[in-house]
Amino acid sequence: MKRLWLTAALGGVLILGTVAFVGGQGEQDAGAAAPATTVEAASQPIQFPHNTHAGQFQIDCQYCHFSAERSVDAGIPPVESCMGCHRVVPGRNNPEEVAKVVEHYNAGTPIPWRRIYKVSDHVRFPHLRHVNAGVDCQTCHGQVQEMGVLETVAPEARDLKMGWCISCHVEQNASRDCTVCHY
Ligand code: HEC
Ligand code: HEC
Ligand code: HEC
Ligand code: HEC
Ligand code: HEC
Repeated sequence: MKRLWLTAALGGVLILGTVAFVGGQGEQDAGAAAPATTVEAASQPIQFPHNTHAGQFQIDCQYCHFSAERSVDAGIPPVESCMGCHRVVPGRNNPEEVAKVVEHYNAGTPIPWRRIYKVSDHVRFPHLRHVNAGVDCQTCHGQVQEMGVLETVAPEARDLKMGWCISCHVEQNASRDCTVCHY
């Protein structure tokens, strides 16, 4: 099934290849040929401010996104890791948002965060390979430590299109083999 997709896709190599190598601005132009991965302006169940945590209080990204350097997925923190602090930090500005965190913890229900960055099912993106090669989170996700609630900045976030992946792979001499990214 996956292989069939790739075989069918090979027909489009020429066109895509041209678009992908347009250059630094490639990710803009690639849009027409390769539909973007979704960067949804989703509404989150709790207004979680990245700037407060990763900026003001300088909590390391990987304290929460704990599996970025050893797994394909960066990981979203379970409600238990929020409670490490919010058992004692009620929140001075938005205590009602922190109260929702406590409610989920007490009820034993996970917070239903909505996914923002997602590549299509036929694409493989391994966080560990990038993080271990020294590519900063910010190179791909922007200055998250300065961002408030992510949904409000998601539209400005970089689209995850093939031309963008390829431009950097060319620059950094990483693989451009179709099969490393496509199933
Ligand atoms: C290492 C400690 C720490 C962890 C872990 C932590 N927080 Fe916080 N959080 C804080 C601090 C400190 C504030 C700022 C509180 C203040 O200024 O009164 C805050 C603020 C907040 C706020 C805004 C409330 C306000 O009044 O500013 C929300 C919502 C929130 N946190 C949710 C979460 C969620 C959800 C998690 C887990 C994914 C989490 N926090 C994990 C320390 C933490
Ligand atoms: C205190 C915990 C905490 C810290 C520290 C933290 N994050 Fe997050 N992050 C979260 C939570 C909770 C979510 C899910 C809610 C949301 O999307 O805002 C999230 C979502 C994200 C997403 C979007 C995921 C998706 O749905 O596609 C990205 C990207 C991200 N964080 C990057 C970072 C980066 C980069 C840093 C460091 C500069 C960082 N985070 C620091 C808790 C944290
Ligand atoms: C080379 C670009 C790149 C780098 C570097 C990168 N990411 Fe990502 N990130 C992505 C892409 C692409 C996705 C969507 C992946 C998917 O759908 O499988 C994503 C998805 C995510 C998500 C969504 C949930 C998950 O579990 O994957 C979080 C959270 C996240 N990244 C956080 C981080 C953090 C924190 C760092 C730094 C430690 C980081 N990313 C480094 C490109 C990157
Ligand atoms: C900012 C630069 C950058 C961007 C953007 C980037 N990558 Fe990479 N990628 C790298 C580097 C550097 C490596 C090599 C890591 C190594 O040598 O272990 C790599 C390695 C990989 C690998 C492993 C290749 C192998 O040889 O096994 C895959 C798969 C991959 N990237 C997929 C993607 C996808 C999919 C995207 C876009 C959604 C993307 N990358 C965007 C820099 C980037
Ligand atoms: C560095 C990673 C990477 C490499 C190498 C790569 N691609 Fe892609 N490709 C992507 C990403 C990311 C997308 C956008 C997927 C999406 O829409 O979410 C994509 C999209 C596509 C699409 C459009 C599919 C659609 O969703 O309509 C085709 C066709 C395609 N790639 C074929 C190829 C072929 C053929 C090669 C080899 C010449 C190749 N790709 C190499 C990452 C890569």
